Amino acid sequence: MPIKYEKESSFLSSEEIRSIEEWTSEMKKYPLLIPIVKRKIAQRTLEIPHKNIGNGLNRMVYDLGNGYVLKIALSEIGLISNAQEFRLYHFSHPDIQQYLCPVMEKGQGWIVMKKMDHKASMNLVNLQKLSDLIIKFLLHGIVPVDLKLANIALTHDNEMVVIDYGLFIKTLYGKTVDSNDYIHSE
Ligand SMILES: Nc1ncnc2c1ncn2[C@@H]1O[C@H](COP(=O)(O)OP(=O)(O)O)[C@@H](O)[C@H]1O
Ligand SMILES: [Mg+2]
Repeated sequence: MPIKYEKESSFLSSEEIRSIEEWTSEMKKYPLLIPIVKRKIAQRTLEIPHKNIGNGLNRMVYDLGNGYVLKIALSEIGLISNAQEFRLYHFSHPDIQQYLCPVMEKGQGWIVMKKMDHKASMNLVNLQKLSDLIIKFLLHGIVPVDLKLANIALTHDNEMVVIDYGLFIKTLYGKTVDSNDYIHSE
């Protein structure tokens, strides 16, 4: 299903959207640069008046200051990850959706996601919960590629929520939710 990109946002100004779109087309000129250099070039193009609170290999993350974060793609994989997080969050079975950090909006090169404040620390209880979670994803037809404690946050009720699931793969057997029906593919 082709992704429809929003030109308007409840979270971003039109200048912010325009500067991200500009960066997204510029980004394609530098496929081989290492992330740290790309980040520097991106910051010259981007007009984002928010604090940069996280960086991965493929995305930069800004705190919007209202309980949400903005994830901007730094590479083609970043674009794919943004699209996949939007799709998985919005089309997954509710049993699985509860473990995915909510994605509110998507645009060309960006998504807005709920901000999580508590990362899961490395201990036996969390490692056991992580392996239970991996099995849950697999049973729902989702291969949780790159799922590790570093990509997991905890809610106030100590429930695990994945904040980086852009590389997860949905197999043919993964159920999606569409209106009131569960169907077998998007
Ligand atoms: N929902 C979130 N709430 C708070 N911090 C986040 C959130 N999503 C990502 N981050 C921070 O930004 C970093 C990079 O984001 P991530 O999604 O892992 O990017 P990448 O796809 O490049 O690995 C994360 O390691 C984390 O520190
Ligand atoms: Mg990451």
